[in-house]
Amino acid sequence: MRKVVKAVTALSVASSIALAGSVIEAVKVDSLEGVRCGSEVIKQNVKFTPVILYPQTTLRMNDKKANELNKDAKAKEAEVAALTDGKEIALILRWKDKTKDLFDCYCSDKYPDGFAVQFAKDASEPQKLPYIGMGSDGRPVAIYIHKAYKNEIFEPNGNKEVFYQVNPHNVNAFGKELEKFKEEVKKRGFKSYQRAFVSEGFRSMTEIKDNSVHYRTDMHYVEKKGGMWGGMVIRPIEDFYASPSKGEFAVAVAVWDGKELQRDGLKRLSGWFALKLPNGENKELEKVVTEKVDGNVTKGKELAMTNCASCHRWKGADMAPPYMAPNLSNIGGQATAAYIKESIIDPNAVIVPGYNRNAHPNFSWYMVDDKGNRTSTMPPFNYLKEEEINDIVAFMQTLKAEVEK
Ligand code: HEC
Repeated sequence: MRKVVKAVTALSVASSIALAGSVIEAVKVDSLEGVRCGSEVIKQNVKFTPVILYPQTTLRMNDKKANELNKDAKAKEAEVAALTDGKEIALILRWKDKTKDLFDCYCSDKYPDGFAVQFAKDASEPQKLPYIGMGSDGRPVAIYIHKAYKNEIFEPNGNKEVFYQVNPHNVNAFGKELEKFKEEVKKRGFKSYQRAFVSEGFRSMTEIKDNSVHYRTDMHYVEKKGGMWGGMVIRPIEDFYASPSKGEFAVAVAVWDGKELQRDGLKRLSGWFALKLPNGENKELEKVVTEKVDGNVTKGKELAMTNCASCHRWKGADMAPPYMAPNLSNIGGQATAAYIKESIIDPNAVIVPGYNRNAHPNFSWYMVDDKGNRTSTMPPFNYLKEEEINDIVAFMQTLKAEVEK
């Protein structure tokens, strides 16, 4: 009798899981020219789809206060929509945030709210999408970032070097000279932080500065519903950095909450979703991002405890030393089933760019040879039966933080 009850419980757990990804359909509009957050074109045409953003727990930051604040971080629900005029694509998102945190000083414990949109360069092989944490070797992504900056911060050089931004109040100039300086700064100044990067993994993020990337971003806070941010990225449908495959992109979004001292890798991140242009028809991509493996979660948990918990931690498994391997507490919210499966059978296919042996001998996630080739320290579990692997993947898909109410 008990056994039956157990089986039923496992089933109901499995069926209540929201999928990591979804399909967002871009709505056709006449023009995206001059469109910003709150524009009429957006208000009248957007069709929002909920997307859940999970805390990034793979790696940990070297910041005690931030780690403490984010210890039990919940997932956040955002809403995503897209518009296209046939030349460009606008990705629009909004998410709740009770506090508007702006960048107004280089203080060590103050960080702004912000968001990022990541496009896989190529989604023609959906089984091999880039690593969700900013791409992987040979599987690049384009990333657009916007952070909420306060207007008084200016960037006098005009070369988008945000690090050299100066506050006019700190300049050693007075009277007329200061006025002149302020005028000059205003002319050249950037009032917000907007950046585009290419990346093949989080150690390799490279800012694109040679004017080869065309995009616009915007971010706007509204007080309604207890406070929420809207953000958007507009980019050409096709460029060197990302192009649709059969009319669809693989896209993911991330948000930073300044109040929780979030920045860099410390953020909430969605899984890959399919962004479908009006003529889009990439069934394979849609299948991969929404795939839920049919397996026995209870058996999968047992198998994971025996085979995986000696290196990995997740909520409910804390035998392994912390960060001996990526923390899998949110793997089910961020990774596709195909990725989890690939990780188990062929760990070298994507090597999570975390701790390397030279820098962290006790936590090496991979080894590097003389030629710079990396090899994962995770052994391949290709001797497990297919059924067992499916059970493990089905269990891994349940690993994700609760969604904040
Ligand atoms: C000997 C230690 C070890 C064991 C045992 C181990 N792993 Fe790993 N695993 C790692 C390391 C190190 C990495 C990071 C390097 C890489 O990507 O291969 C990793 C990466 C992963 C990733 C990718 C994580 C991410 O954030 O993208 C997944 C998924 C994964 N392992 C699942 C498993 C599963 C499931 C098992 C059990 C069947 C398992 N691992 C057993 C060490 C281990």
